[in-house]
Amino acid sequence: MATQEETFKKIVAHCKEYGFVFPSSEIYDGLGAVYDYGQNGVELKNNIKRYWWDAMTLLHENIVGIDAAIFMHPTTWKASGHVDAFNDPLIDNRDSKKRYRADVLIEEQLAKIEDKMQKEVDKARKRFGESFDEAMFRQTNPRVLEHQAKWDALHERYSKAMNAMDLDELKQIILDEEIVCPISGTRNWTDVRQFNLMFSTEMGSTADGAMKIYLRPETAQGIFVNFLNVQKTGRMKVPFGIAQIGKAFRNEIVARQFVFRMREFEQMEMQFFVRPGEELKWFEHWKQFRLRWHKALGLGDEKYRFHDHEKLAHYANAATDIEFLMPFGFKEVEGIHSRTNFDLSQHAKYSGKKIEYFDPELNESYTPFVIETSIGVDRMFLSVMCSSYKEEQLEGGDTRVVLNLPPVLAPVKCCVMPLVKKDGLPEKAREIMDMLKFDFHTQYDEKDSIGKRYRRQDAIGTPFCITVDHDTLNDNCVTVRYRDTMTQDRVAISELHSLIQKAVDPKVLYKKIVEG
Ligand code: GAP
Repeated sequence: MATQEETFKKIVAHCKEYGFVFPSSEIYDGLGAVYDYGQNGVELKNNIKRYWWDAMTLLHENIVGIDAAIFMHPTTWKASGHVDAFNDPLIDNRDSKKRYRADVLIEEQLAKIEDKMQKEVDKARKRFGESFDEAMFRQTNPRVLEHQAKWDALHERYSKAMNAMDLDELKQIILDEEIVCPISGTRNWTDVRQFNLMFSTEMGSTADGAMKIYLRPETAQGIFVNFLNVQKTGRMKVPFGIAQIGKAFRNEIVARQFVFRMREFEQMEMQFFVRPGEELKWFEHWKQFRLRWHKALGLGDEKYRFHDHEKLAHYANAATDIEFLMPFGFKEVEGIHSRTNFDLSQHAKYSGKKIEYFDPELNESYTPFVIETSIGVDRMFLSVMCSSYKEEQLEGGDTRVVLNLPPVLAPVKCCVMPLVKKDGLPEKAREIMDMLKFDFHTQYDEKDSIGKRYRRQDAIGTPFCITVDHDTLNDNCVTVRYRDTMTQDRVAISELHSLIQKAVDPKVLYKKIVEG
């Protein structure tokens, strides 16, 4: 049995081998935490985006989309708080010259203590077998209790330091815990400093005073600054939402786990504007709606959980993450935040413009409160890949690698294959492809044995393979081979369209979401 880490490595390798994800500018040895999507990756990513966009805009008459520019006036980021507070605490090791996030070093120390406890539990489980009571063991074993006490003390000290952003205390914890640099093995640390995560560049010529501008670290602010534009031109009535999909940039220091944490990534965000006082009702509504959106894909209900935030950002009055079970544990894929009226008020203050909504039913003006749903396209892509990748042992000792992608997301929906490259079969196969290609992303493959062709399509998650054989020329039927079961059916060519449509139709998913 492969470990989760080995499986994850295989998924990363598979993404490269089958044209899903490549390291950026690979011929120059790549660029840290930046990735390119290949021919299959971009189709899968586009299908994810389409599924999100339509679930927002088609299913809600009161949600519209926009596409704001990546560059925004620099005051935007002053108002939003990103210039002053979008920071990570960093520390350098003087010997290796490597830079680390101080909070991550401490969290890794906490994880080490957890590992020690887990090892004690695993050892005891082996010893006691069936009768082992883990909860009881954790409550009574002296070694576990000792580790737990250490963990609790460190966690409390660390949480306090992070809440107060006490940089001296973070350094002191690193020294007291005797944390060493993994490269140099020394404790020769610098002080902890704040490091802003925004990338900046200059607009205009430097000679006559270029303006320092930022690459947006979130798409949300493009929505807030357009609140009045959309509300007025769209005659939108509160409650209403604005959705947007676009690139965001963060100079992540600890960038790892493939496309999970990137420096250039894509977000799908929706800001829902509501009456003050109604925000917690809407927060609950969006939590449930977003979970249904995830679950409708059928990746496995048990792979999702909410993680409610105990420590809230100063502008939020409720926040939760939707976490997905990746090979490296439950991880945040989406955040749902009740952001009060913080952003609109800040933009009103910094721009000097009145950003309010006149509510005709209440006959009063107010600054709407906001519920935000924010999901990373790349993390969604990763969760789909991780849960779809399967290595199967087949009868006769053979193995196959298959992506059990939800058909609605599969990059290629069907592949048409002539059994042989002669006797008019390729022409017939091309005819079928021409019939299907306007509605479904279709491939044509005539190279190698049918078995090998099936494997190639399995590896990219194509739900249907359609084989044209000599009988097809007489009976106008083809063999349809199903990806997941590998079973085959003889199907009339005239039935193909509806067979595929039924399987890849997003309407089925939308109904599931709406009906709950
Ligand atoms: N507007 C709110 C916001 O940006 P966030 O929790 O910082 O909130 C939202 O980001 C989502 O964006 C995350 O749940 C994650 O899916 C994605 N995301 C954030 N940073 C990322 C990164 N460095 N690489 C990939 N995805 C990222």
